[in-house]
Amino acid sequence: MSGMAFPGELAVVDDVAAAFCELVVASAPRSIALSGGGTARRCYERLAARGVDWSEVAVFFGDERWVPPDHPDSNEGMARRTLLDRAGARRVHPMYGPEPVERGADRYDALVRDEPPIDLVHLGLGADAHTASLFPGSPALDERDRFVVATGDELHRHPRLTFTFPAIERSRLVVVTVGGAEKRDALARVRAGDDVPGARIRAPRVFWIVDRDAYPAP
Ligand code: 6PG
Repeated sequence: MSGMAFPGELAVVDDVAAAFCELVVASAPRSIALSGGGTARRCYERLAARGVDWSEVAVFFGDERWVPPDHPDSNEGMARRTLLDRAGARRVHPMYGPEPVERGADRYDALVRDEPPIDLVHLGLGADAHTASLFPGSPALDERDRFVVATGDELHRHPRLTFTFPAIERSRLVVVTVGGAEKRDALARVRAGDDVPGARIRAPRVFWIVDRDAYPAP
């Protein structure tokens, strides 16, 4: 898989959260899948400060740790605190549920399958070049049929659900936000076409918003 062309458009910006906010406001998605992590949190805080009205937006999650929303590690909890409650989101589809994680994967897979393609999927990039909860070496990287699978390994504290690459590819627009010097190597590997999870992101439109710490001027 090495030598792949860089997957998408690239914008190098000073403020990733501000650029993400502008892109989301301009594209006005009717449906969106949210990410977790610190970069995503800053993006969502910016959208909340912008005063977006998401009362008609269908909100999904691209991945989740299998913990209740009041747990500090919950992506849903982070999204509700930073954005969804302030944006009046009332069509929210939580990934986490009371059932075992494998049953949760079946439920969310069926949900995503029954819904129209998601307008915008927001992804991050880990320092190990993972995206969503698609980690290097995971069998989930090669899933080509399901849209959602349960995943997890000894490196990560909680079992997780994650969109697979077919689910990512099915969205109309994927926006990947990458900031900070700790992501420099991961982003360089994506751009070099190394076979890392982030390099496998494909969709009709993939837009990378990165800052200068993650992508220093050549
Ligand atoms: C998760 C996220 C994960 C995240 C990246 C970047 O649930 O952990 O979905 O994919 O987006 O790890 O996270 P940071 O912005 O915190 O580096």
